[in-house]
Amino acid sequence: MAQARATAAQNNTGTIQAADCRDASGLRHTSIRSKYKAVRSTTSALAAVLSAEDQMVQSCPEASPTKWHQAHTTWFFETFVLRPFLKHYRPIREEFHWLFNSYYNSLGREIPEKSLRSAFSRPSLDEVLAFRAHVDEGMDRLLTSVTDEEAIGRIVLGLNHEQQHQELALTDIKHALFSNPLHPSYLEGPLPEEKAASVSELTWHTCKGGLLEIGYSLRAEDPFDFCFDNETPRHNVFLEPFQIANREVTCGEYLEFISDEGYTRPELWLSEGWENVKRAGWEAPLYWRRDAEDKTGWRMFTLTGWHELSALLDTPVSHISFFEADAFARWRGCRLPTEAEWECVASRAPAEGNLLETGKLHPTAARSAGIEQLFGDCWEWTASAYTGYPGYKPLPGALGEYNGKFMSSQMILRGGSCVTPASHIRATYRNFFPPATRWQFAGIRLAA
Ligand SMILES: [Fe+2]
Repeated sequence: MAQARATAAQNNTGTIQAADCRDASGLRHTSIRSKYKAVRSTTSALAAVLSAEDQMVQSCPEASPTKWHQAHTTWFFETFVLRPFLKHYRPIREEFHWLFNSYYNSLGREIPEKSLRSAFSRPSLDEVLAFRAHVDEGMDRLLTSVTDEEAIGRIVLGLNHEQQHQELALTDIKHALFSNPLHPSYLEGPLPEEKAASVSELTWHTCKGGLLEIGYSLRAEDPFDFCFDNETPRHNVFLEPFQIANREVTCGEYLEFISDEGYTRPELWLSEGWENVKRAGWEAPLYWRRDAEDKTGWRMFTLTGWHELSALLDTPVSHISFFEADAFARWRGCRLPTEAEWECVASRAPAEGNLLETGKLHPTAARSAGIEQLFGDCWEWTASAYTGYPGYKPLPGALGEYNGKFMSSQMILRGGSCVTPASHIRATYRNFFPPATRWQFAGIRLAA
């Protein structure tokens, strides 16, 4: 994403710090090594089903090639962990230090244009995999003995950074395969079978509001406890009473908006959104295409290829912009929740759902009576602009560029998606994208 976000929490001297573990340091080394191996091997597994040619494609300005994701996540560990903290570390190739920098201007030297990442036919995929292995070997040496709290904090940050890129790699390859005239699938086969029960009715959950706290507080006893700097500091907010929907808006409900001429009624749209509708010719979510053979008139591209929309009407609508979410809410006589309202509700729910580990790689329908889909399925656009919380401080040095410099002209999304790793999401997590962004699994939860 043009704008990653992150940091282990900051202590009050401003350095990155993973929460301390009171256990023997040997236990901490074992657990951080196994976490490192697990995250790195997940990236490798997600890429392994793709050919070297697949891994070169960059089909829209927001996306990056899979090969670049594999290299850049490795660069992060080399740049911020191995170079400063592993004695006698030798880079496999010195040029990688600037070649795979995404946007950290304070590291100096040039940074290649993002739009040129698909031009990197060299280094080859084999060389990138050798780079990964080289850095993994260095990390393995470091992880057997590291005690420096700054280094540990940066390793935990690097793992969370890599998990963000796992999600991006999947959303980017989805767009790449969709852009290919042959429309190949990322995975073969049907979408996972749905239960026969019908989708749960859309109902309202009432929250009384009042003075509440949002934002993250680190748990000192957990060595892996982590949040990005933009989730801090925890602070008070006052909320008026509000209502929030029990589930995300479905494709079927969104189809009603389309059928009611939602995309041709300027009164439903914010001015900038209406400009986007006209300029880009939006008439449906990103991956919907007209299909006279389906009774809905539409089909949808997924990571398992094309599916008739009529088979997916109960699933949450996704790949829509903030503007479309906002217009839909206005059409329904509702609104989007603020991020504080969303967090107030989600902080009482377990951070579980249809996340990456379910392997479904697509949003699934809500089936029960309770509040569902807060975590996983689709990121939920909120009505909140991305700014720093009161007292927010970015990390010092180059890592301060991770989140803080993107706090303009973007909207907050909450809750993760069906391609977010489960150990990566939490109630306080703040994702952010420009309001016209459509290539992520982003959908709608209504508020009133
Ligand atoms: Fe990154």
